[in-house]
This record gives sequence, structure tokens and C-alpha cells, in this order.
Amino acid sequence: MKFSCFSYVLLLLVLSSSSWSALADNHQEFIQCLTHSNQTYSSSIYTPNNSSFSSIRQFSIQNLRFNTIKTPKPLVIVTPVSESEVQRVILCARKNGMHVRVRSAGHDYEGLSYVSEVPFVIVDLINLRTINVDVNDKSAWVEAGSTIGELYYRIAEKSKTLGFPAGVCPTVGVGGHFSGGGYGTMMRKYGLAADNIVDARLVDANGRILDRASMGEDLFWAIRGGGGNTFGLVLSWKIKLVDIPKEVTVFSLHKTLEQNATKLVHKWQNVASRFHKDLFIRIIINRLKSSDQGGNNKLTISASFNSLFIGGIDRLLPIMQENFPELGLRKEDCIEMSWIRSIMYFAGFPIHGSLDVLLSRVQPKTRYFKAKPDYVYQPIPEGGLEGIWRFFFEDEAKSSYVILTPYGGRMDEISPSAIPFPHRAGNLYKIQHLVYWDEEGEEVAERHISWIRRLYSYMAPFVSKFPRAAYINYRDIDIGMNNKKGYTSYMQAKVWGIKYFKNNFDGLVHVKTKVDPTNFFWNEQSIPSLTRDKKNKGEQ
Ligand code: FDA
Repeated sequence: MKFSCFSYVLLLLVLSSSSWSALADNHQEFIQCLTHSNQTYSSSIYTPNNSSFSSIRQFSIQNLRFNTIKTPKPLVIVTPVSESEVQRVILCARKNGMHVRVRSAGHDYEGLSYVSEVPFVIVDLINLRTINVDVNDKSAWVEAGSTIGELYYRIAEKSKTLGFPAGVCPTVGVGGHFSGGGYGTMMRKYGLAADNIVDARLVDANGRILDRASMGEDLFWAIRGGGGNTFGLVLSWKIKLVDIPKEVTVFSLHKTLEQNATKLVHKWQNVASRFHKDLFIRIIINRLKSSDQGGNNKLTISASFNSLFIGGIDRLLPIMQENFPELGLRKEDCIEMSWIRSIMYFAGFPIHGSLDVLLSRVQPKTRYFKAKPDYVYQPIPEGGLEGIWRFFFEDEAKSSYVILTPYGGRMDEISPSAIPFPHRAGNLYKIQHLVYWDEEGEEVAERHISWIRRLYSYMAPFVSKFPRAAYINYRDIDIGMNNKKGYTSYMQAKVWGIKYFKNNFDGLVHVKTKVDPTNFFWNEQSIPSLTRDKKNKGEQ
């Protein structure tokens, strides 16, 4: 029998959220649908009866908070190996009313690519990792299961003068990262990863494979920053590569409170977004044990000024002397290296070691964590900074960080509506509040999460307001979420949507309503379809 699922689309339209539980048993039909063909369905299908199920599920879990006994598990995991297999997964999922979570490399801060309270299937893109770099065209096609480490590696294999402005941690997947924006050390010169996407291939909710020309500019706009698992399943991205010199410069200077850290952080706020575009200096703040003159241990704050300069030391030093002499940067603090070695440096790998580590999908250490984003328009006064330091001296802050990332440069030049990511001119910098822990258990988790929530409350007077802006790639479900059982209302979604997307939120709702009216692609923070909203209102 020829495979066709379209006749079942109408059936799905009449399903309400209350039908989800009845669909939990449909996974057998879903699997039969996948395998029912003259051709063998060559990708692997895993159910809890399969001995590899747990290891496949856990392999890409990057936050241990979502790897506990209580964590809801999928009914099925599929790992398609081709575009047509992905297409079939979507068609069979629709036919059988299965809820789908798409996973690229699993870095979602709230685990939304592999956890759902609705019975679900994980479509794990781990086998879709082909990267074709075209040096002459200065572009690349990257399959959505690739990591940014793999992408950087493949670019460097072909060219010493091309690079790409995406994130710092090599294990991050391009599927989620590009869908939410994606920033890294070259953002002040070249913007976000999503600013440099020129085409994409996607499977929509009707199972059609579309590219930029066939999906149209509205949908193409929405997928570059509007968040993953919302408008379709992205199969691959075409990106524009950027020019880099043969050598760039890096440095890291660590300053404690005793070395004037508060004044330096305060000054940095006034200058970092106005530096030359080639200069990126972020600050990583954490607590540190230090010894006083009597040899007694005490706690202090460390502010690490961690920098990439897209050029040589000789050009960097005068820029620093003119704009930030207080930091006291010397020639011997700086190292010149190729761009790909700077990727190793920022990832914490030995800079002369084998580049093959960039191909690994496994982080050196996976931990429990909770993070929260903020944006800053006005410098925080020194007294305000000292209030943050006090949080670091609490017990739960043993392994906590506040990371300040400068904006300005190219970020100021791009219109806030060019793509759904709206945080452009006016932002001095972004903050990531981050707390890690290693002990199991709900009580420990509760303590650390409550610590970061208190810190977030403390920050309110100092950061953006109306809305208190947030970055979707630093997903935080504390700021609001859709109903966990599949129903998304416009008003509910607007609470968090305005924070991530500001005035672009309504544009995203418009696209969603057009391309996925039945809300097939859904998660706790996906854009709502107005069709679905009206329908549910009618049902209540
Ligand atoms: P994951 O697979 O969990 O997907 C995230 C979301 O996108 C989910 O909703 C998922 O369903 C959806 N999705 C994934 N693939 C899709 C596809 N092909 N089509 C449609 N939807 C898809 N960010 C940053 O900007 N700069 C940085 O330097 C870092 N560094 C960093 C380090 C570490 C250790 C972590 C854990 C995270 C970051 N991030 C980051 C945040 C990161 O950008 C964010 O978590 C991304 O969404 C991760 O993408 P993955 O594909 O790995 O996640």
C-alpha cells in the first residue's frame, strides 16, 4: 500500500487537548506507519523495550535536572538518517496524533527538546550532520543535527580566513541555537548566527519539505530567532561565512575585589558596548577563595575579563590604552592565534591540542543547572554591583556565575525587526545568571533555584523593564509558559513572548497561525496559533 497520511489531517483538526491521554497508546500505530513500506525504514526506532533506549535518550541531555526518575520519558525515540525519513516521521506523527519534540544537541535550558508532560516522541537529529562548506561562495549548508563545534571544525578544514559568528560552547546544536538567535565572541562585528542565515530547508506541519523560495519570506523570517519546535522542523541551514584575519588575539585578566574588581566592572559597563567592533570583552564573575597576608582563606569575587580581538596585538593595545587603560592590559597578557584556536581557547581546551575535540558532542562535565537572562540599558551603580557580590557569599553560590556580554557594534546596526530576535540598539550588555550543583535530590535543587530567583528579584531595579527582556536561547520557564497539556492561549503566551520577542511577538503569532494552525509543533514556550486559540475558547 502506498504511504499517505494526508487523509488523516482532518481527523487531527478535531482533536482537542483532552484527547492527548487517549493518544498515548498510538505509538504502536506510529511505529507501524514508519516501517510500513516496501523500503526498509533504515533509521533506528527506540522504545523502552529496547536496550539502547535509555542511553540514546540520555546521550544528549545537557542539564541533569531533566534526567531524574520523575522526568517524563518519551514513548518512542527516532533517529532519522535522511530528509525523507524526517518527513515520514512528521507525517506518521500527525496521522497518529503523536506529539513531537525535536532534538538537535539537547542544550535547551529547560529540557524542552526531550521532556514533555504530554505523551511524546523525540525526533533526534543526531544522524543529520552533513556540513558542506563552499569556500568560493563563502557559504555553507549545515544539517540541523550538527553542533557548532563540528561547523567550526569543517570551516577551518577548508579555510584559514573564513569563520562564523555563533556560540562559545562547541557541543551546542545548530538546530536550537540558530532557531533562537545564537551569539558568540564575534557578535559585535558580525551579529548573531541567525543574522547570517541565507536559506533553510524545513519540514512543515503538513509534511512538506520547503526551502526559502517555497516557504516564503514570512516563515523564513520567523525561523531565524523565533524559537525551535514552533514553525516546523528545520532540516538544514544555509549560512553566510564571514571574513577573519589569519590571526586574532585573545586575553583573560582576572581581577578580585582586592584588585579593584568593582570599579573595573563599573567602568566596563560604560565602555564595552562602544569599543571598536573588532573588540569583544565579556566578564565572567564568580566567587573565589583567596588567602590574606596571614595565610587565612577567605572568599572574594573574581571578575574575569575574557576577550577576543579580531586583529593583532599591535592594533589591540592602543585601543585598550585609549578606551580602558584601567584594566592595565599588557602585551604579555595577549596571545595571537588562528580563529579556530581561539574557539579552542574560549571552550577551555588546550590551545595547541588536537582540533578533534571540537567534534565531540559530550561536554567535559554535565551538571544540574538553572539560568536566567537579563538585559541592561543603564550602568549598574557600584552599590548595586556590591549587592550582587553579597549573593555570591551564600552557600548555594559555590558554583555560580554572572556573565556579562557586551552589545553595541553590529548589534546596534541591525533593526530590531529584521529577525524575531529584538535586542539591538540601546542594550549595553546582556546578563546570564547561572547556578550549578552536583548533588541529586529535590531539596538541593529547590535551594539553588530559590537562590537564583532571589538574585533575579534583586536585579529588577537595574535591568530592562516593561518588558523585562529575556533571550529565548536562555530559556526560563519562570517567566511564563503555555499550558503543559498542549493548549496554548494567545494571552498566556504573550506574558513570556513579549519578553523574548518584544514587538515581534504578534508577527510570530501571525506566521504561526498561517503555517501551523492546529499547533502541531508545540512546547511550553512555543508561539500560539490564533486558530487553535479560538477553537479552544469555543470548547471551554
Ligand atoms: P536542543 O536540541 O535542546 O533544542 C533547543 C530547542 O530548539 C528545543 O525547543 C528544540 O525542540 C528546538 N529544536 C532543535 N532542533 C530543531 C530543529 N532542527 N528544528 C526545529 N526546532 C528545533 N547560546 C548562545 O547564544 N551562545 C552561547 O555561547 C551558548 N552557549 C551554551 C553553552 C551551554 C553549555 C548550553 C547548555 C547552552 C548554551 N547556549 C548558548 C544556549 C543554546 O544556544 C540554546 O540552549 C540552544 O537552543 C541549544 O540548541 P540545541 O540544538 O543544542 O538544543
